Amino acid sequence: MKIPRRYGWTMDTLRPRNGEQERCVSLLRKIYDWERWARFERLKRLYDTDLSLGSFPADLGERDEFELYKAERERIFADHEAGPWSLSLLGSVGNGKTTMACALLNTYNSIHGKGARYAPLGELMDEYKARFDGEVLRGYMSCPLLVVDEISEADLTSYALSILRRIIDARYGEYRRTVFIANMTPAEFSAALGGDGGSAVSRLREGLTFAMTAPDMRGRLASEFSAGGSG
Ligand SMILES: Nc1ncnc2c1ncn2[C@@H]1O[C@H](COP(=O)(O)OP(=O)(O)OP(=O)(O)O)[C@@H](O)[C@H]1O
Ligand SMILES: [Mg+2]
Repeated sequence: MKIPRRYGWTMDTLRPRNGEQERCVSLLRKIYDWERWARFERLKRLYDTDLSLGSFPADLGERDEFELYKAERERIFADHEAGPWSLSLLGSVGNGKTTMACALLNTYNSIHGKGARYAPLGELMDEYKARFDGEVLRGYMSCPLLVVDEISEADLTSYALSILRRIIDARYGEYRRTVFIANMTPAEFSAALGGDGGSAVSRLREGLTFAMTAPDMRGRLASEFSAGGSG
C-alpha cells in the first residue's frame, strides 16, 4: 500500500520534547496520512462506518495495514497517564484540524467507552449561558477527553475567555486530556489567550502545539491532492 505524500507540518518547539511527546507527534502524523489515504482510495465511506473501530471488511487487501493503524491509533490513549495533557491544533481553514481531533475522540471512546466530549467554543458558551448552571461547566471540566473546536477571535470575548481559562485551569490541574482547535497561528493563539506570561499560555506550553500547514482541503478532488502535495 502506498500512502500518498503528506502536506508539510511545522511544530511549535517552545519546550524541549520528551519521548512521550515524540511518540504523540509520530502518531498524529500517521493519523494525518491515513486520513489522506482513506480519501484517495475512496475508502472514506467504509472508514466512516468504522468510526467505532470494529467492522473493517475482512476481504479488503489493506486490512492488515488498517489493523496496524487502528492499533497504533489506540496506543495514544492506552496509557492514560502518558503523553501531553493538551494538544493545540492551529492553522488555516480546512486543513484537517477537526478531522484529526475527531479521530482521537472516536479512538478514545472506542477504548474507554463513552465520555469524551466535543464542542465548538460558541456552542459551549451558548449552552452555559442558556442554563447558567455550574453543572454545565463541571461537565466540561471533568470529562476525560475534551475537544474545544473553533476558538475564534470573534467568539473569544472576555467572558468566553474567562470561561475557557477556568476550563483550562481545572483540566490542567487534573491532567485531563484536552484538544484546543483554533484558526490562528501560534502567536495569535497565545495573544488571544492572554499572551506570554499569562497562566493559560503557560499551561498550554506544557502540552503540544501543532501549527498545521496543509492547504484548504475542503471540496478538493483526489486528483488535485496528488498534484498538490508539498512533502
Ligand atoms: N488528512 C486529510 N487528508 C485529506 N483530506 C482531509 C484530511 N483531513 C481532513 N480532510 C478533509 O478536508 C476537509 C477539511 O477538514 P476539517 O474540517 O477537519 O478542517 P479544519 O481544519 O477543521 O477546518 P476549519 O478551520 O474550517 O474548521 C474535510 O473535507 C475533510 O474531510
Ligand atoms: Mg474545523
